[in-house]
Amino acid sequence: MGDSRPIGVFDSGLGGLTVAKEIFRLMPRERIIYLGDTARVPYGGKSEETIRRFGLQDARTLLDLDVKMLVVACNTVSSVAIDYLERHIKEVPVIGVVLPGARAAATRSAEKRVGVIGTAATVRSGAYAKAINSIDPGIKVYGKPCPLFVPLVEEGLIDSDITRLVVQHYLYEMVDLGIDSLILGCTHYPILMEVIQSTVGNRIQLVDSALWTAKEAQHIMRALGTEYPAAQEQQAPAKRAEQFTVEASEGFAASRFLVSDVTPNFESVAETLLGAGLPGIEKVSVEELEEKEA
Ligand code: DGL
Repeated sequence: MGDSRPIGVFDSGLGGLTVAKEIFRLMPRERIIYLGDTARVPYGGKSEETIRRFGLQDARTLLDLDVKMLVVACNTVSSVAIDYLERHIKEVPVIGVVLPGARAAATRSAEKRVGVIGTAATVRSGAYAKAINSIDPGIKVYGKPCPLFVPLVEEGLIDSDITRLVVQHYLYEMVDLGIDSLILGCTHYPILMEVIQSTVGNRIQLVDSALWTAKEAQHIMRALGTEYPAAQEQQAPAKRAEQFTVEASEGFAASRFLVSDVTPNFESVAETLLGAGLPGIEKVSVEELEEKEA
């Protein structure tokens, strides 16, 4: 049985599709309503007040579409505004990407030295460090904003010399600091996983917040009895290393994708992040988002 209503997933833009992808991989029959605020992306350089406001508008827009859970797939909103969203939204569980990623890193770092990369707002907030130190105060956390990664991914420059140089530029310092785990604290970064891993070396394990967030969503839904279908009716999810395509998951074709601006490059960016073209998009205007604030 379970609850067949969709899961609401939102992000400042299309980056949160990396989280949607992990949800489809883990729970192929779940439907998603995805909202990407493509008219106002990026959030990463905006003030905390604006990030909180936009986050609440995005969350309420999905809530009005009768979702059973809200996944804040944006690291920036999760870092700056998760408490604020939890205070304002009581109807459904709200989960962000920070806590699941922080938990995974805290339990895996033998050297107790963790690096966090993300947008300027995410790193400035110290949210990952706070979450990690609430689990183990002895862990040293080093943050580094990597603002060039998002445009590189959106330009499709995934495995290129220029990307390798940018990764070196940002991350050699982290390697010198002796970290043994590195949290990919931005929606776009899992796409750069291979190039990051080959640049920093295998001694450093990469922690993908998107993957751990999907697991956390499943864990919460199982506890509440809202996973669809219920656990005993499920088939085993595709393993990470196995060839996985979102098109193969039943929930994908029945999912909805809302954007606040139909940007000229949305198709190629979505393809890069999701590994599939979107089945169709719906436009929601910024004015409609703003109406949800009151
Ligand atoms: N989705 C954002 C994040 O994960 C990256 C893009 C932005 O700056 O809005 O932080």
